[in-house]
Amino acid sequence: MEIFKTKSALKAFLKPLKASGKKIALVPTMGALHNGHISLIDLAKENADLIICSIFVNPTQFTDPKDLEKYPRPIAHDLAMLEAAGCNGVFMPDVIEMYPKGADESWHIDLGNAEFLLEGAFRKGHYQGVTQIVKKLFDAVEPDVAMFGQKDFQQVLMIKNMLTHFNLPITIITCPIIREDDGLAMSSRNIHLSADDRKHSLVLSQSLQFVIDHFEELSLIELEDKAKSFYKNIDGVELDYFTIANGDTLEPAKSKEENNLVALVAAKVGSTRLIDNMIIK
Ligand code: PAJ
Repeated sequence: MEIFKTKSALKAFLKPLKASGKKIALVPTMGALHNGHISLIDLAKENADLIICSIFVNPTQFTDPKDLEKYPRPIAHDLAMLEAAGCNGVFMPDVIEMYPKGADESWHIDLGNAEFLLEGAFRKGHYQGVTQIVKKLFDAVEPDVAMFGQKDFQQVLMIKNMLTHFNLPITIITCPIIREDDGLAMSSRNIHLSADDRKHSLVLSQSLQFVIDHFEELSLIELEDKAKSFYKNIDGVELDYFTIANGDTLEPAKSKEENNLVALVAAKVGSTRLIDNMIIK
């Protein structure tokens, strides 16, 4: 597995491979890898000849400087996981390589109204930062396909909108959410959960599963109300939102007959903010 710190070294490596017709997949990450990330590598292998994973904790997508500071960076562990997974190359640039003009480099593109809903409402400017770095990573790798997790449902939508904005010829593959045995969606942030938080964190997947299990017999309002009631009286858990939304617009669903429905949730568990979702149909 090759490791690259600069765009030029990465491009030099990829050039002959592309010329020989190899199909390249990019798996962008911020490191602190877990089996959710590795599932993206596994799916990438089914969809391309050569897998590049990027590890870059992107400063422009963090709204809370403390969150950026405490983001876990277990690099040796990450590289061992990627090697074992059969990744071909890792791009791990420094901030200066991606933001030569500084991490306050300006960027603004129209991502549609969904940018300002849900996560966008709680994390102002987050998706501008995400699309800014993903565009830079796409420019560096020029992949045929790029893998993203359904775990960050809104992120996938925003990246697809960015792709349309720039008319980029890259296929986005959305990978299913990988969960712990008890249902908690895997996340790099889970290591911050205390033993009590870890128990309480199950409320996210349980409330989503409730909606899936009772979708046929209850109304939208009943489903949301009952799902929200899961969060009452749990010590240290604070619900940011629970919504059943249209999967294309992220606007609240108006009817159960809509084609593309997803239940999405965000909650603070102790001091850790978790997100999760389940596709209804
Ligand atoms: P990060 O949080 O490291 O996630 C990298 C990729 O792994 C994302 O596409 C995310 O959706 C996916 N992922 C995370 N947990 C998952 C799980 N439990 N199951 C399946 N996939 C999972 O998302 C980012 O980094 C950044 O915003 C990034 C796109 C790299 C831009 O900086």
